[in-house]
Amino acid sequence: MADETIPPTTTDAGIRVQSDEHSLTVGRDGPIVLNDHYLLEQMANFNRERIPERQPHAKGSGAFGHFEVTNDVSRYTKAKVFQPGAKVGALARFSTVAGERGSPDTWRDPRGFAVKFYTEDGNFDMVGNNTPIFFIRDPMKFQHFIRSQKRRADNGLRDHDMQWDFWTLSPESAHQVTYLMGDRGVPKTWREMNGYSSHTYSLINASGEKFWVKFHFKTDLGDGNAYLSQAEADEMAGKDGDFHRRDLFDAIARGDHPSWTLYWQVMPFEDAKTYRINPFDLTKVWPHSDYPLIEVGKLTLDRNPTDFHTEIEQAAFEPSNMVPGIGLSPDKMLLARGFAYADAHRARLGVNYRQIPVNKPQCPVFSYSKDGAGRTENVSDPVYAPNSYGGPAAQPDLSGEAGLWYADGEMVRSAYTPREDDDDVSQPRALIRDVMDDAARERLVTNIVGHLCDGVSEKILRRAFDYWKAIDADTGERVEKGVRAKLGGKSEAPGMASAEAIAEQEPAE
Ligand code: NDP
Ligand code: HEM
Repeated sequence: MADETIPPTTTDAGIRVQSDEHSLTVGRDGPIVLNDHYLLEQMANFNRERIPERQPHAKGSGAFGHFEVTNDVSRYTKAKVFQPGAKVGALARFSTVAGERGSPDTWRDPRGFAVKFYTEDGNFDMVGNNTPIFFIRDPMKFQHFIRSQKRRADNGLRDHDMQWDFWTLSPESAHQVTYLMGDRGVPKTWREMNGYSSHTYSLINASGEKFWVKFHFKTDLGDGNAYLSQAEADEMAGKDGDFHRRDLFDAIARGDHPSWTLYWQVMPFEDAKTYRINPFDLTKVWPHSDYPLIEVGKLTLDRNPTDFHTEIEQAAFEPSNMVPGIGLSPDKMLLARGFAYADAHRARLGVNYRQIPVNKPQCPVFSYSKDGAGRTENVSDPVYAPNSYGGPAAQPDLSGEAGLWYADGEMVRSAYTPREDDDDVSQPRALIRDVMDDAARERLVTNIVGHLCDGVSEKILRRAFDYWKAIDADTGERVEKGVRAKLGGKSEAPGMASAEAIAEQEPAE
């Protein structure tokens, strides 16, 4: 007698199935038949269960919650999500950058800090990291950078030699690498780390006044930014590779809801033209003394996903999701990201990824997109604009991104025009000398030495010593001394065979 409280198994078509255990055979011991459609559905769906992982930021997790405004910042933006009293639903996803979907949470890496705000004006995504800066400032280098952090072509291994090769040939990475090798390179938990937009965005208020802005989400937990030592992180990677994912899920499940206070640094529009640091250079912060933090609101996470695949794996964050009142800026990296994410989502999730419930705006959608794989929502006529049949019509008065900033000039391939304080070392030097204390500096040096003693060739090591000496002479000396002491002399690591050497080994035609 079937238990009436348990629902019957069905096929995906809703047809009840006879067995969860036995395939259909000719006689008890005979062959399986092709018309066991349920078995075929099980096997075929199983073969298609995995979707491609995110190219960078594959390993992560997230949770739902809400964002509420706690301070009046309407003088800077007309965005409804930032008006006094506003409260909207939100989704946050945290991640490592270089590791694959199953890699340990506690590998040293920047952490992704992506937030989707479900606003009445459409989805607004802030796709940031737990660091206020990044390794590079031109998107042309991004793909190369990520490849240098992932795996080698020959042995499929991650390789510190190629990581340091790239970093030391890219001096603009100094600030981010200092951050990465410091305590914040392995947060204790996601709940205890800060998040930053890193990039500069633009704001426009109801009177049309424009500003530049950087977002800072500061954790409300404890003293904030608790970290794991390298030894603790290594041990945890072996013990519980999903430590951060588990910590977030368990905390929310027990009602311990993590929250972050959102602050803005706001720069008057005209300042950007003459500020001593290029305000759009992603490798630089705006010192707090120049642009102090202004409280904006609070992000709280209080609901775990119930299906990791549909709600987290299929979540699609994209910097191109801007709402009226907030826009991009002339940061070249940000402009490239404006294209890269939606393109990645089309490849990873299919062209209709915005119809997956987690990505669906919580406001009416009247777009002219039509058909395509995976479309679930009906399209109605007219399917073109302009039309005479009452189809959606664009609003020319809507001040979107148009007019937020402007540029003029010849087409060039070039670095940003340098400004007075645009060097690559002053800010990481300030981080080491003014922000870190002796103990933090000691840990920084230990972390760098450990990293450099793990498979970095002599040629690249020497460049790394110069890299650190340029940032801070004392740190550089200590790194060199530490590495030499640990290696007992020269590095024996082979590095990478040059392309010419490989060509020489190829049999002649
Ligand atoms: P401040 O003294 O005002 O700011 C220093 C900031 O550094 C702190 O507010 C804190 O930022 C952050 N910080 C503290 N400890 C660490 C650590 N161990 N590792 C990384 N960051 C830490 O000086 P400035 O604004 O002039 O900045 C000086 C340097 O501080 C910068 O060159 C930059 O390297 C770093 N920094 C600056 C930030 C900024 O937006 N101005 C943000 C973060 C770091 P938080 O409160 O955000 O945790
Ligand atoms: C993920 C591209 C720089 C933060 C991704 C993905 C791509 C990408 C293709 C995978 C998207 C997906 O499949 O869903 C780029 C390019 C960059 C860049 C081309 C530079 C030109 C940055 C920077 C930051 C950042 C500077 C932080 C400030 C993130 C985060 C994710 C991500 C947090 C994961 C989002 C999620 O949780 O789903 N990036 N990225 N990226 N990137 Fe970038």
